[in-house]
Amino acid sequence: MSGLEYRLGVLVSGSGSNLQSIIDKLHQGPEDIKIAVVISDNNKAPGLTRAAEAGIPTAVFPMIDYDDRLEHDRAMAEELERHEVDLVVLAGYMMLVTPALLDRFPYLVINLHPSLLPAFPGGSPIEDTMDYGARITGVTVHYVDEGTDSGPIILQEAVEIKYNDTVESLRARIHEVEHRLLPHAIELIANNQVRFDEDNPRRVLIREEI
Ligand code: GAR
Repeated sequence: MSGLEYRLGVLVSGSGSNLQSIIDKLHQGPEDIKIAVVISDNNKAPGLTRAAEAGIPTAVFPMIDYDDRLEHDRAMAEELERHEVDLVVLAGYMMLVTPALLDRFPYLVINLHPSLLPAFPGGSPIEDTMDYGARITGVTVHYVDEGTDSGPIILQEAVEIKYNDTVESLRARIHEVEHRLLPHAIELIANNQVRFDEDNPRRVLIREEI
């Protein structure tokens, strides 16, 4: 960042505990990283209340109001542009985003996923990990492309699965990691510390590691 405010658009579908970590650590933190708007597909998402309590503008785009996903995402992209957003953060946003949004924010949309990608992409990763009998899982923050959880990985951290874990106990420990990892990834991008390897654009390089 160069003294200018770095503006986030955060998309949520549910509880919004990760949105809360961005509010606490960044929006209300010492750096000039601010949430410009919180958007949801679900007008009952508790994340909208968290945003309102922090004085952040909100907007709701229920899928049912649109003919198709492209039209839906075009409307969302217009709202994000209206708020002059620098980075779009999917923090528990449960719909796939289409090129109608991605093309307007090239390599400026990131997603949080509760597994060590490319293992267990999709809609129920914690359940899938437990059902598979894996002993290690984790958290991934990655750039969004048109596939399902398939874009270049920015940060990952492992979480051990205990023999007596339930989906809920594991989810709680994953959340602890997420609440640290997602704000950290946003900070790295905002501070221009993230770039792509010129020889292999799938590889993301963080400045400390170069
Ligand atoms: C988080 O665990 C996030 O990784 C996951 O939804 C949860 C939202 O929690 N996202 C996905 O599964 C995306 N495929 P939150 O609403 O409390 O932030």
